[in-house]
Amino acid sequence: MTLPRIFLVGVFVCLGVYLFATAPEPLPDGDVEMAGCRHPVNAVFDGVNAINEEARTVYTKRIVGGGKAAGLTFGEEWQEPGVEQGPLPALFLRATAAHLETLPPRLGLYLGSDAPINKSNLFGAAQLSVFDQIKTTREAVYSEDPQSGFVAMYPDVAGVAPCVSCHNAHPDSPKKDWKLNDVMGATTWTYPASEVTADEFLDVVDAMYASVAHTYDSYLSKAAGFEVPVQIGAEWPREGVRVLPEVGVFLNEVKTQASPAVLEALTRDRRHPDGQPTQDALAAQADGGQVPCGF
Ligand code: HEC
Repeated sequence: MTLPRIFLVGVFVCLGVYLFATAPEPLPDGDVEMAGCRHPVNAVFDGVNAINEEARTVYTKRIVGGGKAAGLTFGEEWQEPGVEQGPLPALFLRATAAHLETLPPRLGLYLGSDAPINKSNLFGAAQLSVFDQIKTTREAVYSEDPQSGFVAMYPDVAGVAPCVSCHNAHPDSPKKDWKLNDVMGATTWTYPASEVTADEFLDVVDAMYASVAHTYDSYLSKAAGFEVPVQIGAEWPREGVRVLPEVGVFLNEVKTQASPAVLEALTRDRRHPDGQPTQDALAAQADGGQVPCGF
């Protein structure tokens, strides 16, 4: 269970190297670089969005759900000294986004809304108009804006009752009549370039995983100092016991869930920068269509 993403990516890398190193004259121009392919930024957004969604699901169900049943609490003040809480899922995302900002790939993430509890989550004018479209279509929208560069927004839907009840009851919520299945906001990603190399793609994916791990680790550090002790490690998951998984175990849960979507995003719609036919197409000729574009 610890291998999936790296393993699957590794399989594709090896397969690509193997095929391009051994297939007879697969390319019309012998100088075409193996690593030359470009991935569209929309595929990068889809990959990191899948990671974020899985991290939120694993965190909400396994950590918050399991933790509450064992008497742990989660709230807005979790970072305050003396408060024995973990982060709410929305704050988990916020902390992940803040860490992502400190890492080299210039990937931006925030969860915005037109009626946010926290005013800093209010969309700007450009994103508000895209958000109106998302509320109608409930589909992701990819756009470009002069300030942020390339932008992808994915609907954030009130899928379970607590989304609605907590927001409606929150003193800072400007909207008190959220209903189940409303589009409450949009997970919004920004990136400055329209395309990335395979290395850049993997760097972005690594940065996202590292940020998820960093946020979870901050919670573990906090939990280690709780007055009523929380065990970390071996016993997790055990019903009704104050125990949390180690950071590596948590991250592997997320990776296991996210890898198929990340891999799909990594191997889709690539283009050779010199206008050559895509290596996917050439590889397909060489090997019946199983091979991704050159890594
Ligand atoms: C226990 C309370 C609680 C629950 C449950 C909850 N939220 Fe929130 N949510 C918050 C708080 C508090 C914030 C503001 C976090 C911040 O300071 O950025 C927030 C932020 C958000 C935002 C960003 C805009 C804003 O309001 O600031 C969206 C969108 C959102 N939540 C959607 C959801 C969805 C969808 C669910 C269910 C899957 C959900 N929330 C569950 C409390 C909750």
